[in-house]
Amino acid sequence: ETFTLALAERIDSTNTQLMRRSDSAPHGLILAAEWQDAGRGRLGRSWRMRLGGALAFSLLWRFDKGLAELSGLSLAVGVALARVLERLGAPVALKWPNDVLLSGKKLSGVLIELSGEVQGPAAVVIGVGINLAAPGDVGQPVAGLAEAGVKIGRNALLAELLNELALVLTDFSEHGFAAFRDEWQRYAAYLGQAVRLSPAQGEPVEGLFAGVDERGALLIDTDAGARALFAGELSLRPV
Ligand code: BTN
Repeated sequence: ETFTLALAERIDSTNTQLMRRSDSAPHGLILAAEWQDAGRGRLGRSWRMRLGGALAFSLLWRFDKGLAELSGLSLAVGVALARVLERLGAPVALKWPNDVLLSGKKLSGVLIELSGEVQGPAAVVIGVGINLAAPGDVGQPVAGLAEAGVKIGRNALLAELLNELALVLTDFSEHGFAAFRDEWQRYAAYLGQAVRLSPAQGEPVEGLFAGVDERGALLIDTDAGARALFAGELSLRPV
């Protein structure tokens, strides 16, 4: 796989900039930034970093499939991150859909944005932020790789991640999420535990976290029976 790497010292958000160019930019374009003024997270949240203390990049990937066939992609990307971080010596877990946790605290987050047709070829922007040192107070427990005693520079970490992402995305194109399901579940946080899922609108759903299906939907056993829920506007919490 060939990547094209672009580096920015200061930018609003690497995802925003790649999405803006998603019609024309080449497959495999990476934009990494030293600093983001408006880093974005899932569910409309912001993503804050410490200067020099995080790796922040986005990758443009073109699939010949349409958006309809990409369910579970965000979980597969989580598996790529978990493999690399575990190899480096950090005992990480994945919090559905794709937060990476270290000692129960957030180490890394992924923001995937899609452009293209439901049936036709899709372009996907995969944004990854990994804390090397934990940022200051961001309103939730956050960890940095340094806490696990992992000492790696941002360039070396980026290279490891890109290699693994290329493998995972190629595998995903051929086999879909089914090829990653067991591995995702091995990394899963809260498996078998009581959890609460809060949709942006409507009532939260509570039950036992029973893993994920072949599409990457979250399975939850509630008093009213088993339910499969898709990512979208949901956040998962242990109760
Ligand atoms: C989340 O935890 O909700 C996702 C965080 C994703 C942050 C990364 S940093 C690089 C890329 N550019 C952004 O604006 N966001 C992602």
